[in-house]
Amino acid sequence: MFSANDFIPAKYSHSIEKGSFQWSAPSNIALVKYWGKKDHQIPANPSVSFTLNNCKTITKLAFAKKEHFDISTSLNTGLLSVTNTELSFDLLFEGQAKEDFKPKIQKFFERIAVYLPFLKEYHFTIDTQNTFPHSSGIASSASGMAALAMNLMSLEKALNPEMTDDYFFRKASFLARLGSGSACRSVKGSVVVWGNHAKVLGSSDLFGVEFPNAIHDNFKDFQDTILLVDKGEKQVSSTIGHELMHNHPFAERRFTQAHENLNQLISIFKSGDLNEFIKIVESEALTLHAMMMTSMPYFILMKPNTLEIINSIWKFRNETKIPVCFTLDAGANVHVLYPKKDKPKILQFIKSELVGYCQNSQYICDEIGIGSQLIMDN
Ligand code: PMV
Repeated sequence: MFSANDFIPAKYSHSIEKGSFQWSAPSNIALVKYWGKKDHQIPANPSVSFTLNNCKTITKLAFAKKEHFDISTSLNTGLLSVTNTELSFDLLFEGQAKEDFKPKIQKFFERIAVYLPFLKEYHFTIDTQNTFPHSSGIASSASGMAALAMNLMSLEKALNPEMTDDYFFRKASFLARLGSGSACRSVKGSVVVWGNHAKVLGSSDLFGVEFPNAIHDNFKDFQDTILLVDKGEKQVSSTIGHELMHNHPFAERRFTQAHENLNQLISIFKSGDLNEFIKIVESEALTLHAMMMTSMPYFILMKPNTLEIINSIWKFRNETKIPVCFTLDAGANVHVLYPKKDKPKILQFIKSELVGYCQNSQYICDEIGIGSQLIMDN
């Protein structure tokens, strides 16, 4: 059993003046949803996700020891450094200074400072971009926080080269979780469980783990085509959303149900039973939205076109027997999940019947991936 204290390092063996790293981290799509949390980003129930491959954040982290930091460099780029007593960083999004992202990063750094004592010794330049279109309604917090956490762990490993890979990835997930809960499922692996579950060996509330049991070939090349129904700002931020589960009339039953559904998925992953998979995944998506509809205050995050798409998928599945299903995040976009062998038929179906329900006919083709990747180590 790990505790948060296990991630507070002892002395570092090396010192390093400056350098940079670059990592990519993918988004992920939950099959059993995380909705509701306790203090310190501890989930109210376990969740499991498929890691995506194409929807990614790419983040470069440059660092320089503060006493050697050349303030004129900062003046040259025209950027103002955030210096909040001890934490200091600049933030670029797609090459441009992005002031409105800074408070979130500032808060993240404050939360993780105790686990990364070196944070206060450096000035950081964070240069970040997403592979998916800006304001597509796809949350970038999971991939964004995971990419930043990977970079920070690369720096910690440079300070402590004896660090094992296990520790590296576990702590990266632990840190990412403190940025955005679901980000801890974007670090490593194709199928990732986050949250204590009696039947998932090594599972923890503190970090995501690669699903340790057998996974049938049926799931190994799963596709996720994301239909962009509403690209607007999120109506309910996930912080507010999770809070709605406090004193929610159905909360306890929901949390128990998530354990049961994950339990069932363990057998389904082994057997490859796609019909049973579909039942759990669609029920989880609708339950997530049912929780929002039955909270106080209440929200409907689906749009009429979300329902049109769901009905079309059900009709198509009935007629063709192709095992295609949907899931939803806390918004109106629809993730269409299906095995790769059915891709030509599903894409044809999407183009002929679903694209009309998407804003500007936009959708993104993604598939199951393997997690974060190191791009550059300088
Ligand atoms: O990681 P957060 O706090 O943005 O919450 C994500 C919640 C859902 O996307 C709705 C579900 C999930 O498990 O990813």
